[in-house]
This record gives sequence, structure tokens and C-alpha cells, in this order.
Amino acid sequence: MSETVANSATLRFLAAPTDVGHSGSVDAGTVLVWVDKAAYAAAVGWAKSYCVTAYVGNIHFADPVNSGDMVEVEATVVYTGRSSMHIPTVVSSGDPRGGIPTMRSQCIVILVAVDADGKPTSVISFVPTTALEVHSAMMPWLELGSAKKSWTP
Ligand SMILES: CC(C)(COP(=O)(O)OP(=O)(O)OC[C@H]1O[C@@H](n2cnc3c(N)ncnc32)[C@H](O)[C@@H]1OP(=O)(O)O)[C@@H](O)C(=O)NCCC(=O)NCCS
Repeated sequence: MSETVANSATLRFLAAPTDVGHSGSVDAGTVLVWVDKAAYAAAVGWAKSYCVTAYVGNIHFADPVNSGDMVEVEATVVYTGRSSMHIPTVVSSGDPRGGIPTMRSQCIVILVAVDADGKPTSVISFVPTTALEVHSAMMPWLELGSAKKSWTP
């Protein structure tokens, strides 16, 4: 019998008045905290080991999240390397009394599974099976992750 490993995590909660910044809506830093938490949950669920965030990019804030909104943050492992997991995340929100949540922002997060010494450790490979998974695995965000080694401080 094989164990089924979840490749996604969804966080659901209400945006609080304390999440609101000067603009009157939830500030970008708070949204990034949510994104990091959701991506971490997806990564740990997949890797079954501690993980660190190596890269956050291609973030697009399409619409604001308002205080009192029901927020959904969905993070999905769509590609794995030896130790890295590429995780697109989508933040949606809407009226908590019902209705369809609207996409507010999205980005790509790359987490790396690490051992007790903080060194990269291997993860099981994600093999896309559905048409959507195959499509996601071919998206250009994978090139963003592989471009990082050219960066020098
Ligand atoms: C991420 C980290 C563990 C990588 O360690 P490293 O010694 O560079 O290891 P490697 O070069 O072997 O890279 C390991 C994997 O990380 C990936 N990686 C490393 N840096 C990356 C980056 N900036 N963007 C995307 N992927 C990255 C590599 O492509 C490699 O993937 P693969 O194993 O799937 O092929 C290390 O840089 C680190 O600890 N960074 C700090 C993390 C951190 O503090 N995050 C914030 C708090 S969680």
C-alpha cells in the first residue's frame, strides 16, 4: 500500500483590522507573511522535513484584501528538483457570508528541504498527472528559480 502525499495546502481565515496598513487595505508585507506560511505548509507536507524559503518572486498584487474579508491562500507544489519545491501561491478573498472568492494576488515561492544541519536534503519527486499539473510544471516561473544563481551581492 502506498502513502498519498498532499502537494497543496490552503489556509482560510478572516482578515483582521490589525492587518490593515496606511492604504486602508491589508498591506503587502502581511500578504507576504500569509503566502510564506501557506507555501511552507505545502512544502513541509510534501517533504516531511523542515524547509527554508529560498526564493519569492513574480509577485503580482491585482486587488486589495480588506479587513473582514474571508481570505484563502492556496499553495501547490508543481515541480520538484533534488531538494527544492516550486510552489505557486494564490491569495483570494471575498465576503465571508458567501460568494466566490476573488483572486487578489499571486506569486511563486521556492522552498528547499533541509536536514538537522540546515543542509539541503532530497525530496520525493513530484510527477504531474493531470493536464493542469502538466501545464503548471511547464510555466515560466521555473526559469525564475533557475536564474537565481547568477545573482551576486
Ligand atoms: C536555501 C539554502 C538551504 C540553499 O543552500 P545551498 O548551499 O545554496 O544549496 P544548493 O546550492 O545545493 O541548492 C540547493 C537547492 O536550492 C535551490 N536554490 C538555492 N538557492 C535558490 C534560490 N535563491 N532560488 C531558487 N532556488 C534556490 C537550488 O537550485 C537547489 O535545488 P535542487 O536541489 O532542487 O537542485 C541556503 O541558501 C539557505 O539556507 N538560505 C537561507 C534560507 C533562509 O534563511 N530563508 C528565510 C527564512 S526560512
